[in-house]
Formats: sequence, C-alpha cells, structure tokens
Amino acid sequence: MPHNGGMGTEEQTTSGDGVATASETLSITDNRTGRTYEMPIEDGTIRALALREIKVDDDDFGLMTYDPAFMNTASCRSAITYIDGDKGVLEYRGYPIEQLAEHSTYLEVAYLLVHGELPTKAQYEEWEHEITIHTFVHENVKKFMEGYRYDAHPMGMLLSSVGALSTFYPDASQIKDEAIRYSHVIRLIAKMPTLAAFAYRHNMGQPYVYPDNDLRYPGNFLNMLFKMTELKYQPDPRLERALDILFILHADHEQNCSTSAVRSVGSSQVDPYSSVAAGVSALYGPLHGGANEAVLRMLRRIEAVDNIPDFMQGVKDGKERLMGFGHRVYKNYDPRAKIIKKATDEVFEVTGTNPLLDIALELEKIALEDDYFVKRKLYPNVDFYSGLIYEALGMPVGMFPVLFAIPRTSGWIAQWLEMIDDSEQKIARPRQVYTGDRGRDYVPIGER
Ligand code: CMC
Repeated sequence: MPHNGGMGTEEQTTSGDGVATASETLSITDNRTGRTYEMPIEDGTIRALALREIKVDDDDFGLMTYDPAFMNTASCRSAITYIDGDKGVLEYRGYPIEQLAEHSTYLEVAYLLVHGELPTKAQYEEWEHEITIHTFVHENVKKFMEGYRYDAHPMGMLLSSVGALSTFYPDASQIKDEAIRYSHVIRLIAKMPTLAAFAYRHNMGQPYVYPDNDLRYPGNFLNMLFKMTELKYQPDPRLERALDILFILHADHEQNCSTSAVRSVGSSQVDPYSSVAAGVSALYGPLHGGANEAVLRMLRRIEAVDNIPDFMQGVKDGKERLMGFGHRVYKNYDPRAKIIKKATDEVFEVTGTNPLLDIALELEKIALEDDYFVKRKLYPNVDFYSGLIYEALGMPVGMFPVLFAIPRTSGWIAQWLEMIDDSEQKIARPRQVYTGDRGRDYVPIGER
C-alpha cells in the first residue's frame, strides 16, 4: 500500500490565472517497500536529511546520498559569490566581476565580500586605514621564518606562519564575540601579504622588508618583495594596478576546495587563523592553486609556435592535457581569463613581452576552433594567462599559489563569517558507506 512518508502531502497549486501548476515537491517510490514519499523542493534542492525517513523497516538507518567530491551537494546557503558556469558569469555580492575589475580596488572588493555592500567613502577610508595599520607582524614571526630551510616552498611557509598567528592572538578563539572576530578579519587580510613577502625574501636570502604604510595594499606588497637599497620604494602604478586586478579576480569563487576546507575546519569553532591555514593547505595542491605553474611549464616545453600542432595532437590523443583549459563549473570562457588576458598586454607594455605569450595566444586560437575542445566546452580558465603576468612581475613559480592565497583570504574569511552566523550550520561531519570487515576477533601477533 503506498503511504506518505510524512514529508509533506501531494498538492496541486494554482497560479493567479487559475491554471494548475505542479507543486514544488519530489515524489519518490521506494521499490523495496512500495512506499511513496514526497519531499519539498526548495531552491532546486531537496534536503538530504529528508531521505533518512526512507527505510525498509524500523531498524534501518534510512537512505543517504553518496556523493564523493560533493559533485552535486549544496553544503550551505551563501549570498557572497554567484557563478553561472554555462554563461560564464561571475558576481561578487551581485556585482559582475568585469565591473569590479575595471572600477574597484582589491581592498574595496574585500570590504564588499566581508560586509555585503560597497563601502561609502568614509567606510572605505576607515577600512583601508584599519588594514594598513595592521600590516606589521610580531618580531618573533621573523625568527621562525628564519628557521625554514633556504629553499622552503613559500606556500608551506605561508600556511604554517598564518596558522602560527593564532598563538600570538589567543583571543582569536572567541569567535562568538563580534568585535574580537572582526579585529582578526582585519588582521588576516592585513598580514597575509607581509607573511607572503617574508617567505619570498627568505627564499632569496634577502632581508625581510617591513611594510610601508604610505603605500596602498598592492604597492606595499611589491615594496616588501622587491625593495633593495633605495630609501623609498616606488611601485610602478601600472604594475600595481595589474596586481590589484589579479587580487580582485582571485578574491572569491564560492564553494571551491579551499573555501570548503575553511568552512569545514571552521565549523569545529577553531580560530580563524587555523581555518585560513586549512584553506592555504588546500590551495597548495596542484589541482587547485598550482595549475598556473603547470601552464608555464607547458608553454616552456612547447617552446615555439611551430611545435603547437604536434602538442595539440598529443592532447587530442589523450597523451597531454592543455593546462589552463577546462573547468568543473565553467562550460564557457572563464570571465576572469578574459580580464587577465587584457591585463597581460598592459603589464607587457612595462616589462617587455614574453615569447611564451605568442605560444599561449596561438594555443587559445587553435583550441577555440578545434572540434575536440568545442565539443567538450573547454575554454581558457583563470590560470591560462595569470602565470605569464606573475612571471612578468618577477615572481618565481613557487610564489604563484601564494599570490592566489593573499586575495583569497578575504573570500575565505567572508565565507567563514557567513558560516558562523548561519544557524543551520553545525560541525561538518559527512557520512560514509562502510566497505570494510566487521566483528573480527583479535589474533595475537605470534599466531598471524
Ligand atoms: N585538456 C584536454 N582535455 C581536457 C581538458 C584539458 N585541459 N580538460 C578536460 N578535458 C577533456 C577530458 O579529457 C574529458 O574528455 P572525455 O569526455 O573525452 O573523457 C572532458 O574534457 C571532460 O573533462 P573532465 O576531466 O571530466 O572535467 P572535470 O570537470 O573533471 O575537470 C579540470 C576540470 C579543470 C580539472 C580539467 O578541465 C583540467 O584538468 N584542466 C587542466 C588543469 C587546469 O587548468 N586547472 C585549473 C582549473 S581553474 C583554477 C581552480 O579552480 O583552482
């Protein structure tokens, strides 16, 4: 006998003009029992927990979903970043990325992500001031930076030093206190460039450069990276602007691997420095923050435009991958790649062109016309051109993921704040499908 599982009753709703419309529910028949269940559809989702009522008998745990890598599971509600992968749309708090990249600054975007609105002039000035006066790190940070090996990866140094900041700010564990929490949001955004630059200078065997609070956020970062004997470092405004645009483009990208890591670790109510350290760790991986480095290696390997046809044949034969192409979400041109491509021209005007750009442009041209790529909807992603700019700015490849982590901190922390205030969130704790043995008796070592 079909029976209602208690998740709502079937109903036919009527629109204003009297035409019957389907109700926003999903009916599921469990063929093991013949029972039919009905569950509400809300925002294009059903509640996974509602499935637990689907049982064979009273002892049954209830149905779960199996979704490795969260391919089709929304883990939160978020009002921060919107992506339409088919149309190639990216918006922060509803503002298109193209407009922000053209008119805004990274610090303004960080404010927008954290607060939800663009700041007024007074709010912006206060925000910029607060961040600027928190760029210094405790002198002891220098000491443990010095302890790393000369060739330590800068991302490894960044992830451990940002985690270590929690030890300098024990009150950061008071995540329910709004004022304290906010002070650490400011500190995190302010200090990431300082930690990143110290890591770079450590690799170079050069003295750490203190922040220059006369400079703006990206200019100060360039100062901490590149200042040598000059009394005052003057960033080239065109390079500073290019870096600012790159920071804007990388600030947030909804529930990607590192953001999920920040939310997941943060859900244990640990302090934000430890949560952000988890985000840096996730971003460190070559499938996430490391693709721009792989693009550069690929372009170097191709070496000349003449070698492209052979390389492309290798890609189509499945022997190669065109790095910087394709995306899990975008099935169209990644809007960030378009903006970076334009910024590349501006940077090369200052630094002189890189012959690898010709190879990249030709690869893109061929790929966009080739049936293999067209059929699979493979377009350039954010990483296709960013490595070229980073290299033009004088960054070694090890710094590429670090340059991603600095601006992503504002996205991570905005998502962390959203999670803290979300009454539906609890400690993240997925289920599993157990595939191992059960109930075995312990065998003493001598008898195995
Ligand atoms: N070159 C050649 N073929 C590709 C590529 C590529 N870059 N990307 C996907 N394909 C093919 C793939 O072989 C598959 O073909 P088939 O259907 O014949 O088996 C089809 O396209 C679908 O690919 P997929 O691997 O199932 O797609 P995915 O969503 O699992 O992977 C991706 C997405 C980004 C991992 C993948 O496109 C890729 O490896 N790209 C190169 C690496 C890269 O640029 N990563 C940066 C991502 S953006 C930055 C970030 O999010 O951190």
